[in-house]
Amino acid sequence: MTNVSPQTKINKIVSLCKRRGYVFQSSEIYGGLKSSYDFGHLGVELKRNIADLWWQDLVHRRDDMVGFDAAIIMHPKVWQASGHLDGFSDPLVDCLDCKQRFRADKAPRHPAGATITYQVKNMEVEGKVAACGYVCPYCSSPRLGDERQFNLMFQTNLGAVNPVQDLLNAISSDDTLTLATIRQRLRKINKGSAVYLRPETAQAMFVQFMNVLQTTSKKPPFGIAQIGKSFRNEIVTEHFIFRACEFEQMEIEYFVPPDSWRKWLDYWCEQRLNWYRGFVNQPDNFRLRQHEEDELAHYAQACYDIDFKFPWGWDELEGIASRGDYDLNCHQRLSQTKLSYFDNQAGKRYLPYVIEPSAGLTRCVLAVLLDAYEESKGIDSHGREKTRVLLKLSPRLAPIKAAFLPLVKDEGQIKLARHLADSCRQQGVHVAYDDNQSIGKRYAKHDEIGTPFAITVDTQSCQDGLVTVRDRDTTTQTRMAGEAAVAKVVSCSSNLR
Ligand code: GAP
Repeated sequence: MTNVSPQTKINKIVSLCKRRGYVFQSSEIYGGLKSSYDFGHLGVELKRNIADLWWQDLVHRRDDMVGFDAAIIMHPKVWQASGHLDGFSDPLVDCLDCKQRFRADKAPRHPAGATITYQVKNMEVEGKVAACGYVCPYCSSPRLGDERQFNLMFQTNLGAVNPVQDLLNAISSDDTLTLATIRQRLRKINKGSAVYLRPETAQAMFVQFMNVLQTTSKKPPFGIAQIGKSFRNEIVTEHFIFRACEFEQMEIEYFVPPDSWRKWLDYWCEQRLNWYRGFVNQPDNFRLRQHEEDELAHYAQACYDIDFKFPWGWDELEGIASRGDYDLNCHQRLSQTKLSYFDNQAGKRYLPYVIEPSAGLTRCVLAVLLDAYEESKGIDSHGREKTRVLLKLSPRLAPIKAAFLPLVKDEGQIKLARHLADSCRQQGVHVAYDDNQSIGKRYAKHDEIGTPFAITVDTQSCQDGLVTVRDRDTTTQTRMAGEAAVAKVVSCSSNLR
């Protein structure tokens, strides 16, 4: 494998994603929308394969898990009870020099009063770090605006009438409106029809805890699993799809008897780390990290992150938190609805504690692509140096499991290659038929998009039914019967490695 520098690697992934149809910038023809991305044919397949693997391993293969799929817009009281309305915010600061907006908690730290040199309009200037103890992450200026709390939830309104537009119309047409009236109407809008796009999938699983309990006859320990979109109005979006405003999560709320939470937290940390390590090429690039006391979210008793070694350093892929009975308690209090469980055997009623393995599906797509990306140098048929790009995806996750390639555009070869591809499709396996360009270029293309097998049909194949199966990772070529090649593809597509 050729050494690829970390920054170059992320740029290469972004470029490959666009060139080959994994991920596109949203609304590109209008100049793009910051931090919004669309998944193309290959991207959606990879994302679905990861989600399916998660669902299969965590729901279908277990007796203690049930699935769930909640509405994105929920009653606003959900967010009042959960603490999101008051507390789900980041500290926002404006730089007075470069005018960039950033998160105070992520800004570079310096001792208050320290002298710092930075650039303004290509001029080197000096300044003193203010009492806040940080500077602008973009230009290093210590000249900053006040820190403001910025709620990350996207707000919208339910109903045919847009009350904000109504108020704006009233302001522009009625000169007698006082500031007090405008304030009062704004408060009413906020209280009345304001709803939020969910910032996590988790809350619905607490709110519906009783319905799930009663309809599934589960008892703690058991879990509810959900995959779906979440929305956060992030101040800083970064690293391609790593931090976006719209993303997908794969979350479990695992309800346990209160005295067993530690055991279950350890259990889920081990399970989840091993899950990632089971389908990647470099398992050591995944690690478990315990949160420091001052990092813990308001609801968490303890928390671990599963980090991946991204090109910019170790960063979070999944959080595994012990949330205690915080959420059930909050919702029980505000809704005045019992959310406790009666343990018949012990003859007592209690609020279960919750262990929450919360993974980012969109982030996982990026980690899987980075883990799979390889480059190697070789010599082409004209003796020129060439770079071979390879996505070493596990066959289970690869968007296309095999490419069926007639060596030349000959009627017999085309017919046989199409017939074998259709046999795979009829067994539910996603494969490609490809007769464009030279065979070398087709191999290179399928290496680059991560197709595990290239199956070539040649003149001889039309006589003896044998085809050449080329393995993406080793490039070894094996001659076998067409039916055997189909069986190999079908069986490998359900394997992790
Ligand atoms: N219910 C708990 C919860 O949502 P979180 O740590 O805020 O916890 C869980 O989010 C996971 O969701 C993260 O580990 C990350 O993978 C993903 N995630 C969070 N914010 C994201 C964003 N802006 N863009 C992409 N993924 C994000």
